[in-house]
Amino acid sequence: MASPAIFVGTFVHCTRLNELQILKNYILATDEKGTITTFCPKDDPSVAALLSSSNGITKLTIPPGGFILPTFVDLHLHAPQYLYAGNGLHLPLMEWLDTYAFKAEERLDADPSLARRVYETLARRLVEAGTGATLLFGTIKEDTNLILAEAFQTVGLRGYVGKLSMDQSSRPTYVESSAQSSLQSARSFIDRCRSITVDLPDHERLVEPVLTPRFVPTCSDELLAGLGDISKTEGLRVQSHLAEAKDQVEWVRRERKQEDIDVFDKSGLLTSRTIQAHCTFLDKPSLARLESAGTSVAHCPLSNAYFSEEPFRLREALDKGVKVGLGTDIAGGYTVDIMSAMRQAVITSRMREGARLTAKQEGRSLTVGWKESLYMATKGGAEALGLLTGEFVVGAPFDAQQIELLAESKRGSLDFYDALEWAEDTIEKWWCLGDSRNRVGVWVQGKQILKK
Ligand code: GUN
Ligand code: FE
Repeated sequence: MASPAIFVGTFVHCTRLNELQILKNYILATDEKGTITTFCPKDDPSVAALLSSSNGITKLTIPPGGFILPTFVDLHLHAPQYLYAGNGLHLPLMEWLDTYAFKAEERLDADPSLARRVYETLARRLVEAGTGATLLFGTIKEDTNLILAEAFQTVGLRGYVGKLSMDQSSRPTYVESSAQSSLQSARSFIDRCRSITVDLPDHERLVEPVLTPRFVPTCSDELLAGLGDISKTEGLRVQSHLAEAKDQVEWVRRERKQEDIDVFDKSGLLTSRTIQAHCTFLDKPSLARLESAGTSVAHCPLSNAYFSEEPFRLREALDKGVKVGLGTDIAGGYTVDIMSAMRQAVITSRMREGARLTAKQEGRSLTVGWKESLYMATKGGAEALGLLTGEFVVGAPFDAQQIELLAESKRGSLDFYDALEWAEDTIEKWWCLGDSRNRVGVWVQGKQILKK
């Protein structure tokens, strides 16, 4: 449980795409539920009353060389695949899935103690990386997903847990036996996952179930339609993979005689509660369809570099107003660090722009800036999940990380940051060169879960 606290110092957040706010000499107070109750300049007249009534409340003054930032949101991560993070990335997607991804999932479904070890380690690594909320793909088996949910709830991380639904697969040992039994198991998992937190007050419930049709190739039309119905009646979030890779898109065209996006749309799975990973092969009209449906994209630039022959049209998606957050896609991507996803998103956009210029194509620049990536990693991801976190505002849960650049031992590779005027340049330098050494605190719902 959180205890009320007061933080004084510099706060950094992005309330809109491309808008970075650096708020110096600010004060932020939280209550016993971990909700932000005050956020204003320290010399605001209301602050005197707050401070005089704050006896016994924890106070933290952020040293001059540091700042408080919202925690990151990882909008796409396969928790069981953490077992094989960094393996087999030379293979094309459909082969890699069969050789590594499905194998990792089968191993965890067969071995609860291995599952516990992988999920607890993953949760700890995410905290170290400054991630406060994660949209998770699990495995087929209900029990293994309960282990995942319990690991996140215990560590104090927000976890949106997807028991996989897949009633057809190229791998006979890892598939549900029918659409109806798959739907039955999805419903059962929803109840069992909710029961983990049923005795807790609302603000302490950090884990929730998410409907998770793996992707079109492994899901029959009957299963997809059934999941669409459950999502509608239960108001549940949905996650899947959409138009990720050439071999996958071609598979769907060949076997289903349709495009991925149409299959999801017909099943009622393209809604404002839906988050679709990758979307690399979507053209501009399809991006416009996502925008009008309110469907979000989990952009996974590192994994795309390996498995998708094309880069995601990020600039075009942002310009069309599509909601976009960032995902690590463990283990299609090899690192749990969303800072890597931010950098990779910018790098990829610059490569796209270079190619555009070389081809002498008309149109506006395709580059995406570091501040936009910071928005996607925080507020963008929170918005996709329908959370109030991702920025500092009264009434929102306090999900935050403390970055420290001053102490030599905490500075990591940020040499000479103090040669800069303390402003945007400092944040940019941290964005490029910072790492977990600079992260000295993490809070979720006002509760501190990392302290260095
Ligand atoms: N498409 C379907 N399943 C997966 C998966 O596990 N990883 C990736 N990257 N793509 C997928
Ligand atoms: Fe994925």
